[in-house]
Amino acid sequence: MRGCIVYERSTAARRKEYIALYRQHFDKHGIPFELVFTDNYREELTKTPVDFAIVRAIVPEISKELEEMRIAVYNNARVSEICNDKWLTFQYISEHTDIPFMTCMTAEEFLTKGNDFIYPLVVKNRRGHGGTEVFSVSSCEEAADLIGRYPKGSLIVQEMASDTGRDVRVFVVGNRVVTAMLRVSEHDFRSNYCLGGKAVPYELSSYERQMVRKITDCFSFGMVGIDFIFHRGRAVFNEIEDVVGARMLYDHTKVDIVAEYADYIIERQKRQNTGETLWDR
Ligand SMILES: Nc1ncnc2c1ncn2[C@@H]1O[C@H](COP(=O)(O)OP(=O)(O)O)[C@@H](O)[C@H]1O
Ligand SMILES: [Mg+2]
Repeated sequence: MRGCIVYERSTAARRKEYIALYRQHFDKHGIPFELVFTDNYREELTKTPVDFAIVRAIVPEISKELEEMRIAVYNNARVSEICNDKWLTFQYISEHTDIPFMTCMTAEEFLTKGNDFIYPLVVKNRRGHGGTEVFSVSSCEEAADLIGRYPKGSLIVQEMASDTGRDVRVFVVGNRVVTAMLRVSEHDFRSNYCLGGKAVPYELSSYERQMVRKITDCFSFGMVGIDFIFHRGRAVFNEIEDVVGARMLYDHTKVDIVAEYADYIIERQKRQNTGETLWDR
C-alpha cells in the first residue's frame, strides 16, 4: 500500500507540521507516503503510482481525475464538488434530507424579489472559506451594492440566524462522529476559529446527532466538518467543510484526528484490497 497527500504548492509550505503528522503515522505502519502538488501530480503519480490520495486542495476536477486513475480519493470527488459550494450543498441537503437550514437564495434571485426581507441578512460567497467572504447587510441597498461588486453567480443571500456569533463544528471520520466543538465569537456574528473565535468541546444532543446521521447517510466521507449555527436556540445546518482543519482540536483537546483519519484510510484500503464489501458508501 502506498499513498500521497495533494496540496497546492503555496499552501503546503504553511502546512508542514500537519503533513508531518500524517507521514509519522503512515511511517509507523510501513506505508510509503508522499506529498504531491496540484501543479505536478500527473508526472509524480505516473512515476510512483499510489493506492490512495488524501486531497487537501479544493479542485474537484483533480479529485475526479485521480478517481479515473483508480486511486482511492479522500474526500472523494463528489464530496469535493458539492461541499465546496454552499449553494450546491443547500440544494443537495434540501433534496435529500429534512434537515432545517436558514432560507437561502442566489444573489440574482434576491435582486428580483424586491424588498420583502427582514434585515440584517447574510450575503456570502458560495465558494468562500474561513469567514472572509461572509457579510452582514442591513438594507436592500447595501446588499445590492455588495452583490454588484462580485461576479454574477458567485454570491448567495441567507436569513440571519438569531443566535449569532456561535456555531458547532462536528468532526466526522467515515460515518463516525469523532468529536464536536462549539466556536464562539464575542465581537462578530461570524464564529470562525481562524477569525479569533474561541473553541470549547461540545456535547451533541440526540437531535443534533440525528441530523449528522442524516448527512453522513448521503455521502461517503473521509474526514469532514459538519457545521451548525443556532436559530432560536436550535441547531440548524450551515455547511460541510471538505478540507477541514484540525488546529482547533490540537489546541484544545487530546483528540488526534489525523491518527484517526489515517487509521480509517488504512483499514478501508486493506478491506478494498481483500475485496470485502465496504460498510459505507
Ligand atoms: N445565516 C447565518 N446566520 C448567522 N450567522 C451566520 C450565517 N451564515 C454564517 N454565519 C456565521 O458566519 C460564519 C462563517 O460563515 P460560513 O457560512 O461558515 O462561511 P465560511 O465557509 O467562510 O466559514 C459561520 O461560522 C457563522 O458563525
Ligand atoms: Mg464556515
